[in-house]
This record gives sequence, structure tokens and C-alpha cells, in this order.
Amino acid sequence: MLDTLDQQPPDALLALIKLYNDDPRADKIDLGVGVYRTEDGGTPVFAAIKAAEHKLVLEQDSKAYLGPEGDMGFVHALMPYIFGEDPTRSGRIEGMQTPGGTGAVRLAVALAHKSGAKRMIVGAPSWPNHAQIIKDIGLEIVSFHHATEDGVADLDAVKQAIAQSQPGDSILLHGCCHNPTGIDYTHEQWDEIAEALSNSPILPIIDLAYQGLGHGLEEDSYGLRAVLAAVPEALIAYSCDKNFGLYRDRVGALYVMAKESHQIDRILSNGHSLARANWSMPPDHGAAAVRLVLRDEELTAMWHGELDAMRARMRQVRDRLAEAGTVGTVDLTPLGIQNGLFSMLPLSKEQIMKMREDHGIYMAGSGRINIAGLTMGNIEKFIDAVADVSA
Ligand code: LMR
Repeated sequence: MLDTLDQQPPDALLALIKLYNDDPRADKIDLGVGVYRTEDGGTPVFAAIKAAEHKLVLEQDSKAYLGPEGDMGFVHALMPYIFGEDPTRSGRIEGMQTPGGTGAVRLAVALAHKSGAKRMIVGAPSWPNHAQIIKDIGLEIVSFHHATEDGVADLDAVKQAIAQSQPGDSILLHGCCHNPTGIDYTHEQWDEIAEALSNSPILPIIDLAYQGLGHGLEEDSYGLRAVLAAVPEALIAYSCDKNFGLYRDRVGALYVMAKESHQIDRILSNGHSLARANWSMPPDHGAAAVRLVLRDEELTAMWHGELDAMRARMRQVRDRLAEAGTVGTVDLTPLGIQNGLFSMLPLSKEQIMKMREDHGIYMAGSGRINIAGLTMGNIEKFIDAVADVSA
């Protein structure tokens, strides 16, 4: 039976990790998968997380199973950061832990599907795994252009997609630090999107995977909170991969905002049973470390400091790229106002291959670069390479 299976291509983004590792050139640059890097090119464990892990080793007295909802102390500790004042919206918001942001997106789409959603409205481009998950669960994808050719978010396109929606539609929006473009909606645009959603039958799903890496924890939740204030119900997929640096520990959460507080347990019981059938319960360690950070003032302050430093470094890289202006045929100026780890370069497949082969610079085949892979030490080489391949 198993011999009937077709060969599947490796995930293009994850395959880049291996290609990069196998390249012997000392001055190679990794702009592929989305991990934050320091000025030295490393991805160290956050100091706040290390300290919490030490505490965990001393304090944890059992590794017996929790339930499919995971560590609820972790789930609740994040809520004031995500939802602000009145984080439960009078008992209408509750959550559960998931294996990473991917687990949260998977659960959100599955819950929408189980509730009767037939189509998912998604901006293009989007994180490639979004489409993969949506198709795997069996929803039809309806696309709209995320950005205009001038490199700003296309408000008309998303509003038109919302206006043309029908019952049974859900929409997947990036809360901040859009992956792959770095192009976010402005606060005014979010207000308009929230207003449009309030007049539609759409179930919103907001994917918030980079909170704190754009303009700050509060600022990066503006869009999410604007939408939640306008709509009766929503699903929120959250990731701690980047803002706590917990990538391989797989730490995420799914939150549900129900129309009424008495519905929340029933809705989440469906999340629990889907989780049980998929992964039974999420891995504990990373979430427990986040809980310990957020329950300790000193560690929380340390975490804020580390996030601030990451953001400042990425701004410095973006400022230098913007200052370079047009190199070859590529205008780097818009990268200065984009947010988070990613931006897109308008390079052809051949030019992207030339970046890799001639210059040892690894970037996604879509033209996406990980801004954090650039440092003050390698950025001039990168700018020269863009000029060279696009000349
Ligand atoms: C990325 O887009 O590079 C990250 O979100 C990692 C991943 O899982 O794709």
C-alpha cells in the first residue's frame, strides 16, 4: 500500500537550511528561514528564558501529563500582552496551548472548518504554510493582493474581498510583521478593515506570530484589538517562536473570542478534541519557561529589554538598506518602512540563484529575505550582490 505514495518535494524554505549548512564559503549569508540573528550571526537562547529554564529545573516536580489544553498558566499569562485591558473581554476570550504558531493556525482553520467554513480569504503572498494547511483541511482559498506595486498594503483589495464575502467565509490576516512582505496595515487601515468586517458574515482568524518585533508589544497588537472590538467572534493564532526565541520548542496558543461568554467552553471543547486527535497535548517545556518569565517582574523586564534590542537591530539594518536607495534595478528604500523579520526583493528566479551561486547569499525562492540575517559586517556585501545580479 505504502509504495503507491508519490515522492513529495522537501519544503523549499526548510531545504535552504541544509543547502546553507553545506556551503563551505566562510562569508556566506543566510537570509532564508525566519530566525532572529544577533550582530554576530548567532541565535542565542534569550537570557530571560535561560533564567526561567534554570528555575524550571529546580522547581518542576513532575512531568506527568497535562491535558490537551496544555499549560493554562502560560495561556493566561500572555493574554494581557495580546488583548490589553480586560483581556478576557468579560469572559468571552479563552485559549489553549498549541505546538507552535503552526499548531495554532492548524487548529484555528480546523475549528473554522468544523463550524461550517467553506472558504478562506487570504492575502497573496502569504506564509506558504498557510495555503498548505488550509488546503489540507479542505477549505477553498480565495485570494486578494496584499500589497500594491508601490510596496504599501492594498486596503482596497482587502476591503473588496470582504465586501464580496458570503456566509461560510473566514479570513486569515497577519496581525503584524507580515510574512513574507514586511508590509503591514496602518492603524487607520486596520480601523477600516475592522469596520468592513463588522458588516460582513466573515469569521476572522488573526495570525500574530511576531508580536514585539515590529514597533513594540502594544503597537503590534493594534490591528488585532481593532478587529476584536468590531466583530462578534474571532480566532487568534499566537506564536512564541520569535518573540521568546523558542523556535524548536514549539510554543504557541490558540485563543477564541466567542459571541457570548457562556459559549466559550463549548467552542474550546472542540479545540481540545481536535488537539487530542492531532497531537494529544502540546510539548510543555518552552511554555512553562514563558510562564515563569511572565510571572517574574525581573525576568519580564529582561525579556522586554531583549525584545527592544532585537527590534532596534532590525531597524538599523532596515535604515541602512533604505539609505542605499536603488541598487542595480532594485529599490531598497521601501524596506525602511516595512516591519519585522521579512521583506521581498523583486528578483527573478535566475537572479536569486545567482545570489546563491556567485555570492553565497541564501534567500527564499519567492524573493523573501530575512532582515535579521544581515549585520553591519555583511550588509555591504549584500547590497553589492543585489547590484551585481540585477545590473
Ligand atoms: C518562516 O517563515 O521562515 C518561519 O515562520 C519559519 C517557518 O516555519 O516557516
